[in-house]
Amino acid sequence: MSILLKESAKLIRESNFTFAFTGAGISVESGIPPFRGEHGLWNKYDPQVLDLGYFLNNSEHCWTYIREIFYDFFANAKPNDAHRILAKMESNKLLKAVVTQNIDNLHYEAGSETVYEFHGNSKKLKCLKCGKVYDAGDIDFENIPPKCVHDGEVLKPNFIFFGEGIPPDAYADSFAAAEKAEVCIIVGSTGEVTPASYVPRTAKQAGATIIEINPEETIFTSSITDIYLKGKATEVLRQLGELLF
Ligand code: APR
Repeated sequence: MSILLKESAKLIRESNFTFAFTGAGISVESGIPPFRGEHGLWNKYDPQVLDLGYFLNNSEHCWTYIREIFYDFFANAKPNDAHRILAKMESNKLLKAVVTQNIDNLHYEAGSETVYEFHGNSKKLKCLKCGKVYDAGDIDFENIPPKCVHDGEVLKPNFIFFGEGIPPDAYADSFAAAEKAEVCIIVGSTGEVTPASYVPRTAKQAGATIIEINPEETIFTSSITDIYLKGKATEVLRQLGELLF
């Protein structure tokens, strides 16, 4: 892989616009399970708990699982070296942005500044009636479903549920980056969810070189990937970092 790593580092150094597209895999080494694959969350939980229509009619039932998956699991997760190296690439002007499908806030906590959160962020909750936004840290998750102090309405995590639209700014910023990209680095995504997976595909169509980091091959690998760096996000990005910094 060292030839592929050297080629990747050369492309990144010479690129005028590189962005990263990250999925659940980049946070696995922070202790957050992926959604799919052998230890995937959707093997254990029914994705219906994140279906907007079902949630609106079964909020207490859904919140039992949402708390367990996204607040018990995620609460203590910390950024890993993969998040930190992407942040260092940005500060060294080698990366313009991170487009992430993840809602765990770890790119920001690692120091990345330009992060487009395609699926929102679990650290905020929103009242479905008056729109008041709450910090997850201020919520007493012993009493679920959490309610709005103003109107008693159920609060919803500020990440998108199945059936919800993508946050408009994140959507526009992500595809604008993809159109300008010379290099796109895909880290830890199956590419199975749309429209998120159209972002790296748009970069490819716009002429970008696609570098993919994943221990497993994906539907990206056989379709748009130019350089496949097989391995865990921390291992590959540490090696790439040694060539870049
Ligand atoms: N390093 C890099 N990649 C890894 C690692 C690791 N240590 N461990 C697992 N992976 C890879 C898996 O091989 C898989 O390709 O991470 C990917 C995880 O895939 P998914 O769980 O499908 O994650 P993602 O592609 O981000 O899912 C997209 O699906 O449920 C929705 O909204 C949710 O944002 C999520 C979206």
